[in-house]
Amino acid sequence: MTDESTGSVPAGDSTLSMTPEEFRAAGHRLIDWLADYRAGIERLPVKAQVRPGEVADRMPAPPAGAGTIDELVSQLEQVVIPGMTNLQHPANFAYFPANHSLAAILGDLASTGLGGLGISWESNPALTEVEQVVCEWVRELCGLSPEWRGCINDTASTSALTSLICAREKATNYALIGRGVQGHEPPLVVYTTDQAHSSVRKAALLAGFGAEMVRSVETDPQSRMRPDAFRTAVLDDLDAGRQPCAVVLGVGTTGVTAFDPIRPLAEIAREFAIWVHADAAMAGSALLLPEMRHLFDGIELVDVIVWNPHKWMGTALDCSLYYVRDVEHLVRVMSTNPSYLQSVADGQVVQYRDWGLPLGRRFRALKLWFQLHLEGIEAIRARLRRDLDNARWLENEILSAWDRDWHVVSPVTLQTVCVRHEPEGLTVDELDTHTLRWVRSINDGGAAYLTPAVHDGRWMVRVSIGALTTERRHVESLWGLMQKAAREATLALGG
Ligand SMILES: Cc1ncc(COP(=O)(O)O)c(C=O)c1O
Repeated sequence: MTDESTGSVPAGDSTLSMTPEEFRAAGHRLIDWLADYRAGIERLPVKAQVRPGEVADRMPAPPAGAGTIDELVSQLEQVVIPGMTNLQHPANFAYFPANHSLAAILGDLASTGLGGLGISWESNPALTEVEQVVCEWVRELCGLSPEWRGCINDTASTSALTSLICAREKATNYALIGRGVQGHEPPLVVYTTDQAHSSVRKAALLAGFGAEMVRSVETDPQSRMRPDAFRTAVLDDLDAGRQPCAVVLGVGTTGVTAFDPIRPLAEIAREFAIWVHADAAMAGSALLLPEMRHLFDGIELVDVIVWNPHKWMGTALDCSLYYVRDVEHLVRVMSTNPSYLQSVADGQVVQYRDWGLPLGRRFRALKLWFQLHLEGIEAIRARLRRDLDNARWLENEILSAWDRDWHVVSPVTLQTVCVRHEPEGLTVDELDTHTLRWVRSINDGGAAYLTPAVHDGRWMVRVSIGALTTERRHVESLWGLMQKAAREATLALGG
């Protein structure tokens, strides 16, 4: 029920499941609890120590009537916390950082609390225009030219799918308005490498290219796409009557943070009118650092850049930036204009529903705005530089370790250090067993969390530094843990 003179909802209205006053009290309680969780996170194990099904078994059914926030907080403690892998923990070195800065969380809360619906400019002008402005701010902070226009998607996976659909439509002169790819000849080819994130292959398959039309271009010893091999693959496909369509560049790959050489690859792509998608999901945060931009040389030549502030920068899932040069093409592929969404503002405003897959849009730009405002870009940059320094420190420790069995598997380009401990005389299988043994002993102990991954056909361990609260002392402790775990695993080999 609303007060007609002010339009406001009075507290205590019995038709509401929760009144604004109850929300205020419960919200304070929850924020206090979350602040305590973050403040005390170091006392928790990093990796969840539960067995499959344990969390589900512990979940109480909701009460028939209204329950209380205190009950829920106690269930968070008892049911959820034991089942949390605490990626905001300073000893989290797994995956890539999935940072949720407290400032960004407040922005996300504001977004949900405001309850806006982004289905057209008119349905929420602020949601659209704040997103436009924030994407412009970030573009400038990254040193990208004004040629780029940006929006925010949920994930890099969605962004890759959107981009490959746009590539397909460019190559087929908008086949979607006719028989689609089913009526198109010759077959279209997508190029990437075996280092590409799984979402790239998934996007190519979902965009209708077909697994046989996804090429894995040869890489150099540093896992980067070789331009000569790319050119050869393109020429081979042309000779065989196929149509090169898109290349997805790994700009900071998931395995070893390899950077495909953008400029020579994009120049070849231009020669053959091939769409270029730059997947900088993780590494895009490094664009914020002028001294790291050499890794992105040639980025202005690509068609789409994707990077996720929700990884290293810390803008809280989900926040994936999607920058394009040719907005007209994007809109032509993605637009829909049902009558109920038409408005007098059409033609003067951005309609973000025409920039991607979903219709309903969250107010994601608020969390980027909050983070930039409350933390400040220089503090964010200082944190990223701290992580780069910590990675270099760990690399040096490993390279100069008295135990010569430690190896850095691939050059450290950013904040991830990929390692193996290789005692002499082991077969490939024994070495894999050894690697998995020492890393699992660390992960299962809960004191730190690392990711084992296969590289060049053998297991290695990724140490991905960059949780918000990871300081040098945490990396030092980790290195101690790694040495101890590897020593114990080596002893177990003898036994
Ligand atoms: C290089 C790269 N691309 C894409 C992705 C997929 O990101 P998302 O979870 O946003 O879909 C990841 C995830 O870590 C990644 O590392």
